[in-house]
Amino acid sequence: FKNTKMATNRTFTMIKPDAVANGHIGNILAMITNGGFKIVSLKLTQLTVADAKAFYAVHAERPFYGELVEFMSRGPIVAAILEKDNAVEDFRTLIGATNPAEAAEGTIRKAYATSIGENAVHGSDSDENAAIEGAFHFAGREQF
Ligand code: PPS
Repeated sequence: FKNTKMATNRTFTMIKPDAVANGHIGNILAMITNGGFKIVSLKLTQLTVADAKAFYAVHAERPFYGELVEFMSRGPIVAAILEKDNAVEDFRTLIGATNPAEAAEGTIRKAYATSIGENAVHGSDSDENAAIEGAFHFAGREQF
């Protein structure tokens, strides 16, 4: 296993409960692979309220924290580790702006987000957080 390779060429994503419930898993994975990302690890799972609170702890003081935790724990998600050169930045470009009203044409959020809160996908915002978030969701032996 190459767990030590969790470096700058990886990012972490979740397909959020809204997009899973709306039947968009397949189309979003297609956009991800068509965008040049290799899927390193992948699973359908669900966050408990405690998981969501911990995952988003950095946003605990934000006014939307409670809403974000409730939303992210309300149904199944897809968690994945992705690999590509410049993965974090290129994936943020592929998903588009947090607010779908501002998301560029061709982005995942433009296609599938329904509001600023229910915005279909998550992408790590730094290499450091990509490693932390991947380890949060996947055991070492799963981080191919
Ligand atoms: S920041 O300032 O860049 O950290 O914020 P941003 O990346 O835009 O948002 C961080 C996460 O919070 C979610 N978010 C919201 N949820 C509910 N309501 C509102 N108003 C709201 N604004 C932001 C946003 O979807 C981000 O979640 P992730 O999973 O990181 O995409």
